Amino acid sequence: MHNPLEIFTRWFKEATLTPFISDASAMTLATADRHGFPSVRVVLLKGYDERGFTFFTNMESRKSLELKENPHAALCFYWQPLGRQVRIEGMAQQVSNEEADIYYNSRPLVSRIGALVSEQSRPLDSHVALLKQVEEAKSRYSETNPPKRPAHWSGWRVFPERIEFWQEGKFRLHDRKLYTRTGSNWIVQTLYP
Ligand SMILES: Cc1cc2nc3c(=O)[nH]c(=O)nc-3n(C[C@H](O)[C@H](O)[C@H](O)COP(=O)(O)O)c2cc1C
Repeated sequence: MHNPLEIFTRWFKEATLTPFISDASAMTLATADRHGFPSVRVVLLKGYDERGFTFFTNMESRKSLELKENPHAALCFYWQPLGRQVRIEGMAQQVSNEEADIYYNSRPLVSRIGALVSEQSRPLDSHVALLKQVEEAKSRYSETNPPKRPAHWSGWRVFPERIEFWQEGKFRLHDRKLYTRTGSNWIVQTLYP
């Protein structure tokens, strides 16, 4: 199979259907600042296609500030019960406002309010202070008077240049297949474990 997206689709589907995997869409996102200092955190995959792998977040958060100054990103899924890891590397680009609106508006009202009031990654007096801000905002909005997506909340799409599929093997003899983009095609290499 020479299109890694087809393999990803099969693996992702199998992970989604595996009972002991509570959220197959959880992926580690690595970014680095302009000096190359790395940072990682977990985000949720909200969609993928030929254009890349998408997640949503606060655009003023640490990850977004790093992506704005250095768009190189890496993603990593680990589906332990299947003994599988997928690594994806490429450049991140902000999704369109339209796409961000559609996803924002699909979220539960309280999640939308949370995204509205959260100054993600910046210091907060206390968790109670956040809950108070949410309560205050809840009194201003309802399902019939919902908040508009704030400009500080959107998504990123990572356009893959490399995708590696790692299948656990016995005695650490794992099977690694690395797909590297070459224009509109992919070359595949098997790597030592
Ligand atoms: C399972 C899980 C899923 C998460 N999903 C997201 C997400 O989709 N978007 C997001 O902004 N943060 C998500 N978070 C929180 C991030 O890991 C992180 O704490 C937050 O985005 C701030 O990261 P930053 O300071 O590096 O920007 C998730 C955390 C966990 C544990």
